[in-house]
Amino acid sequence: MIRGVAPSWDVTYGHPDVQTPRQSVFCGRTEPISATVAPEPVSVESSRAAIRLTDVTKRFGSGGPAAVDELSLDIDEGSIVALLGPSGCGKTTTLRMINRLIEPTSGSIEIDGVDVMSRSAQELRRGIGYVIQQVGLFPHRTIASNIGTVPKMLGWEAERIHERVEELTTLVGLDHDMLERYPDELSGGQQQRVGVARALAADPPVLLMDEPFGAVDPIVRARLQDELLELQNKVRKTIVLVTHDVDEALRVADKIALLNVGGILEQLAEPDEILRAPANEFVESFVGEERGLRRLSLNTVASLSRNDGPVVDVDASIEEIDRVLDADLLGWLGLVEHDRFLGWATADDVRAARAAGRPLRDVDRALPAAQVAPSSTLRAAMELIMVSDTSVAVIDDDGRFGGVVSLEDIRRCLADTEE
Ligand SMILES: Nc1ncnc2c1ncn2[C@@H]1O[C@H](COP(=O)(O)OP(=O)(O)OP(=O)(O)O)[C@@H](O)[C@H]1O
Ligand SMILES: [Mg+2]
Repeated sequence: MIRGVAPSWDVTYGHPDVQTPRQSVFCGRTEPISATVAPEPVSVESSRAAIRLTDVTKRFGSGGPAAVDELSLDIDEGSIVALLGPSGCGKTTTLRMINRLIEPTSGSIEIDGVDVMSRSAQELRRGIGYVIQQVGLFPHRTIASNIGTVPKMLGWEAERIHERVEELTTLVGLDHDMLERYPDELSGGQQQRVGVARALAADPPVLLMDEPFGAVDPIVRARLQDELLELQNKVRKTIVLVTHDVDEALRVADKIALLNVGGILEQLAEPDEILRAPANEFVESFVGEERGLRRLSLNTVASLSRNDGPVVDVDASIEEIDRVLDADLLGWLGLVEHDRFLGWATADDVRAARAAGRPLRDVDRALPAAQVAPSSTLRAAMELIMVSDTSVAVIDDDGRFGGVVSLEDIRRCLADTEE
């Protein structure tokens, strides 16, 4: 749910500590836009912003335990930081302090070097899209109207709103014929997309997402996560994403802030580092077993030092073929022709062809050839190795043969970096 950008929304927020998202948005009303909203043209630009939290503490009530405790966090512009942690550890509270739905007890929050407390809440929220914990679409308004909520509040002309809604619909991968439907006529995943589209409507530089994919099944969830990454490649927002799902954080975040109950920051690090070098026992147990396997999904073939063989060019000299055959340990040889990978052949077949003077080009090859791209995950490479008998060949983006990856290369890569 996006937070307001218009005066009427500030009125509907009521008490800044309102806890129920739905109430905080609707305040029991389904039509939050009042007729008194003054049209306010706004320039929409894809600006960026960095966020800095310094010693931020929040106590609800006087003298109670801290919901967030001296949290310091730097969020680079254009990056995705995941706030990850168990229920009640202060994730939502932290998000709400960034857009001033909740005010910190102490500490400061800056966006682009400006203290959020020094700006009007209304102006601040204009630059912040907010996807709330339960999608929270307006049930009695069409999808188009939901997506166009903020532009309408900002007083955009109907035609401009229409164009923006169409653009966002395409951007988040929704069918345009859904625009005239109502939220309960959409699946959970589709509603989540509408929520994201709505948050992006006025092109805010900052996007706060509170469990944006919480309400959908794992398969849809994974797809939405991929789509978010694609979207981020296009729009480059500064995104703070709340989740309690380790895999979600590992998959989408540039950095993970792992919080413990009481809003204590246990570790702030890139996903691979969290897995490779958990700061303490809490982090280790939170990210769970199978850290090594999870790292296989995070790292790509591009990060490996590959080996050159056993590979032979089909036009190689007899001596060269013999050299590769002699060195062969696997029983398989990769065949290449001028940098193009042709496939894997058994060493016995190559030997037979060589003995009979037949060109290597004609030797039977295993199809489909076990090959990966530099962008393939180590996990994908490992799976191919497991099912194919051979190592896998790396085919670079320009289609050239780029070396071979063996199980041993993958093992070494993980072991070398393990602390
Ligand atoms: N308005 C409030 N008044 C009093 N306590 C509150 C209020 N809002 C949150 N809290 C408390 O602050 C702590 C942090 O709550 P918060 O909603 O930030 O957790 P969370 O990490 O988002 O949890 P979840 O994963 O369950 O959404 C909790 O103990 C919660 O009970
Ligand atoms: Mg929460």
